[in-house]
Amino acid sequence: MSTEGSAVDTLTIEEVAAELERLAKEIAHHDALYHGKDQPEISDADYDALKRRNDALEARFPELIRDDSPSRRVGAAPSVTFSPVVHARPMLSLDNTFSQEDVQDFVAGVYRFLGRLPDQSIAFTAEPKIDGLSMSIRYENGRLMTAATRGDGTTGENVTANIRTIAEIPNQLPKGVPAVVEIRGEVYMAKSDFLALNRQMEAEGKQTYVNPRNTAAGSLRQLDAKVTASRKLKFFAYAWGEMSDMPAETQFAMVQTFKDWGFPVNPLMKRLNSVADILAHYDEIGLERPDLDYDIDGVVYKVDSLELQARLGFRSRSPRWATAHKFPAEQAFTEVEKIEIQVGRTGALTPVARLKPITVGGVVVTNATLHNEDYIKGIGNSGERIRPDDHDIREGDTVIVQRAGDVIPQILDVVMEKRAADAGSYEFPKTCPVCGSHAVREVNEKTGKMDSVRRCTGGFICRAQATEHLKHFVSRNAFDIEGLGSKQIDFFFENEDPSLQIRTAPDIFTLEKRQQQSLTKLENIDGFGKVSVGKLYAAINERRSIALHRFIYALGIRHVGESTAKLLARSYSTYEAFATVMKEAAPLSGDAWNDLNAIEGIGEVVARAMVEFYKEPRNIEVINRLIDEVTPEEAEQPVTAGSPVAGKTVVFTGSLEKFTRDEAKARAESLGAKVAGSVSKKTDIVVAGPGAGSKLDKARELGVQTMDEDEWLALISG
Ligand code: IVH
Repeated sequence: MSTEGSAVDTLTIEEVAAELERLAKEIAHHDALYHGKDQPEISDADYDALKRRNDALEARFPELIRDDSPSRRVGAAPSVTFSPVVHARPMLSLDNTFSQEDVQDFVAGVYRFLGRLPDQSIAFTAEPKIDGLSMSIRYENGRLMTAATRGDGTTGENVTANIRTIAEIPNQLPKGVPAVVEIRGEVYMAKSDFLALNRQMEAEGKQTYVNPRNTAAGSLRQLDAKVTASRKLKFFAYAWGEMSDMPAETQFAMVQTFKDWGFPVNPLMKRLNSVADILAHYDEIGLERPDLDYDIDGVVYKVDSLELQARLGFRSRSPRWATAHKFPAEQAFTEVEKIEIQVGRTGALTPVARLKPITVGGVVVTNATLHNEDYIKGIGNSGERIRPDDHDIREGDTVIVQRAGDVIPQILDVVMEKRAADAGSYEFPKTCPVCGSHAVREVNEKTGKMDSVRRCTGGFICRAQATEHLKHFVSRNAFDIEGLGSKQIDFFFENEDPSLQIRTAPDIFTLEKRQQQSLTKLENIDGFGKVSVGKLYAAINERRSIALHRFIYALGIRHVGESTAKLLARSYSTYEAFATVMKEAAPLSGDAWNDLNAIEGIGEVVARAMVEFYKEPRNIEVINRLIDEVTPEEAEQPVTAGSPVAGKTVVFTGSLEKFTRDEAKARAESLGAKVAGSVSKKTDIVVAGPGAGSKLDKARELGVQTMDEDEWLALISG
């Protein structure tokens, strides 16, 4: 019988040996998939769980550590590397909509933002959302210069040589095109080419590929352009980056221009004027979907007028003028083999269902998130029932699994007829499975309701929380330290040699020095080697100076995600200013506290979490050690060149007539101003429309500059 999932300390030595053997094989299998073929079968979190299990078993019986143990292969095979390309304009993603109501809300939001009435019709384009890889292709004086993947949106990978092998993408544009042209679109593999490739793989006795998207990715992300050339990749142009001249004034005409320049464009793109027409086109594309020779996962709607697009602008990661209307998720039946608990950075105990592998919409699914203990019971976040009374999820149950796009699969319901007579309901642990501390559900002070998440109270003593914290710290949007991934963090965390230990973030930056004074050398450890150790130190040292928002995000304060970190960095500019406010706001009252709460986009829950974080002496100690090693850079103010309001704090009050409140705010922010919700000593300008009341009084009282909407417009159009 498999011992998987049993508590480590209940196993016999024989059981541990058998499980270690199985884990070594399984992890090696996933390593090969991950590094070699771009077609992983499990999520990073699940992979990490396997590694953690392996480590825990080895810790119990060190004498059983195998020669081929995954813990000995630290750096594993490196994946191929491409040089980085910084995008001239960031490559953004799209917001998703899932229902007709969502689409109505999106359209209504556009009208509202622009202050348009329903009869002042706004045109939208609607086109398929291609399930491939987005690419930015730059032409200078008509010649293809670079092609880059999306990467993190700011920096992508240089795959020019591979892109040149795609016959559909012109190397040379016709005469008369603008000097700089960046075409963006999707590289994909046709379904028919994918099937032919898999037939060939099968005939040669090789492993087949999972789906066209991953195969396209794998075909691009390898260094031999000949292989890419043999894969028959294709392309659709649908967007652009930098353009030295704009050849058209609408989304639709831009794409037609790309077609004239020789790019393939999607024939199903239409320009439409009403929500009803948009939804009808969505249905039409949905009907054609099975017959298309490429995978699509929804329909993208974009405001057609480029002038209106510019007015609508962007949220942190996605444009306000576009949305992706996703097709309904695909479903399948399978069995829950067991329920496991993962412990996250903030101590949240997240149950995961291990499933009998099943293909859902072309992808093999082996896990589904169960969210929290209420979800298992069939209770939603607001206490409502999400499944019939007795449909709680039990080990051994047959369930309906749903997968939508890249989202983690969900279990929708239990097939009760198939439930075994002796299946007992799942007992959610009341202690942390990693450190054994009590796991509790906090009660929200305001609502008096119990949080749906049970959290480990172990804090720093919990190995899972500590390592997850470190993994967050080095992750792509935080310190982004190359060569310090999840596996390496586990290795350094568990290491008993003080010169090889990383337990808290500052330890990362003292590693090299500790190593210089030590006889146990990292470069002699299996999986590292001299070159990779040199690279690791270089990568660490490169981050001794770091953007302030990355620094704040990396701290891993609860509720402080990337966009909140950016807001904070913009508002306080320097780490010193930020830290001072955090300390002064400790009593949850006073100027610093009010200031923090006045930042638009920072609510009380977030503010409280930050202040609590800074009250914890252990956090202060870690931060102080960190600040000895790294320097957060002063935050840059966006587009400040020539802006008369850059760095100024502005409050809008009363009713505005020329702009909606949202547009005024977005416009001010794009000019580098900070928009606050209440007036304080730090406010620079109050823009007051008719009906302004207490905020205007307060501004006058404090001697803050006030102006009306016209004066504000005159100021910013300077
Ligand atoms: S427009 C600023 N149009 O979807 C908006 N994106 O979720 C730029 N995608 O990264 C994207 N088909 O890879 C756009 N017709 C289409 C698309 C499309 C596929 C992908 C693209 C993007 C992702 C956003």
